[in-house]
Amino acid sequence: MKEISVKTSSFESRIFIGGNSLERIPALTKTQKNFVITDENIYALYPDLFEKYFSNTPVFVMKAGEENKNIQTLSAILDKMLESGLNRTSRVFSIGGGVVGDVAGLSASLFMRGISLVQIPTTLLSQIDSSVGGKTAVNHGGVKNSIGSFYQPSEVLIAPAFLKTLPARELKCGIGELVKYAALDSEIFHSLLKNQDTLKTLDLAYFTHLISACVELKAQVVAGDEKENGERKSLNIGHTTGHAIELAFGLSHGESVLYGMAFETMIAIHKGVCERAYGERLLAIIKRALRIEPVAQPNLKAVETFAKKAKSDKKNVNSEEIVMAVARAEGKWTLLSLPYEEYEQELRFAIEQFSL
Ligand code: GLY
Repeated sequence: MKEISVKTSSFESRIFIGGNSLERIPALTKTQKNFVITDENIYALYPDLFEKYFSNTPVFVMKAGEENKNIQTLSAILDKMLESGLNRTSRVFSIGGGVVGDVAGLSASLFMRGISLVQIPTTLLSQIDSSVGGKTAVNHGGVKNSIGSFYQPSEVLIAPAFLKTLPARELKCGIGELVKYAALDSEIFHSLLKNQDTLKTLDLAYFTHLISACVELKAQVVAGDEKENGERKSLNIGHTTGHAIELAFGLSHGESVLYGMAFETMIAIHKGVCERAYGERLLAIIKRALRIEPVAQPNLKAVETFAKKAKSDKKNVNSEEIVMAVARAEGKWTLLSLPYEEYEQELRFAIEQFSL
């Protein structure tokens, strides 16, 4: 089992990666009242896990899916926490993917002004990215993650074996975030250039290696910039356009980020911000990931149907200027800011040139 820690100015999160990371649960549940938040898929797939570790613990089973990451679910969780008699010393265990982790994290951060939180991520996306770093949120008012907090989990227990039951669409969704890390880190970039076909099959040893590499990078970034004033914006590569696509077409987050990264890399090359030779190698990785089944084919040529949604991105300083985190050279990134009209024009041009 590998241990990585994320040290911020006020907190230290411990992250454990490996088959036996779940063996930490008995020690973590021993002394205080506990509460589990999970979703219906995980609850149905892993009855033994709940029986073994949480037989006397209240469990809130939420509906799966991004559309349930909302204030109604948050409110129902807080009601059940109160009904269950939790107090300020209680601990929340979040068992699930990014949606469960985001709502559970926000619930833990709000209840009694904040109680202990342990993240147990079960999807590739949550294991490499969302369970680490303390972002919590629900979607509201048609804006993704518009209500949330920074709230660090005390521990993150990553068991890659959960990936064995992950549907192909969800695995591909995580691969979207994995490719984002390739744009930020030379080792992951070269590893994916060389071994990307391995991603189509679930080689757990290789995935465990990649999860550790991503978490190590994220731990460094978050330690230096917990509240996303600078370096942490790098973790949003492809996300400005990606979130717009996700909101407009209902594609998975990771697949939307892959499309977002492709178009933003093309824009960055066109604007002379990204080195062409490097950008084309990165585009090759992105396209190979996009070709992994199942492939969604939204009508991206109808740019006007989704581009405007980029105006609500949290990186923007005002809604007429679109800010994107883009790759510029191997392991290097920068912010690229364009007036909205120019962004839409560049996006249209990139999409016209794009083929899978
Ligand atoms: N998922 C990006 C971040 O945690 O900052």
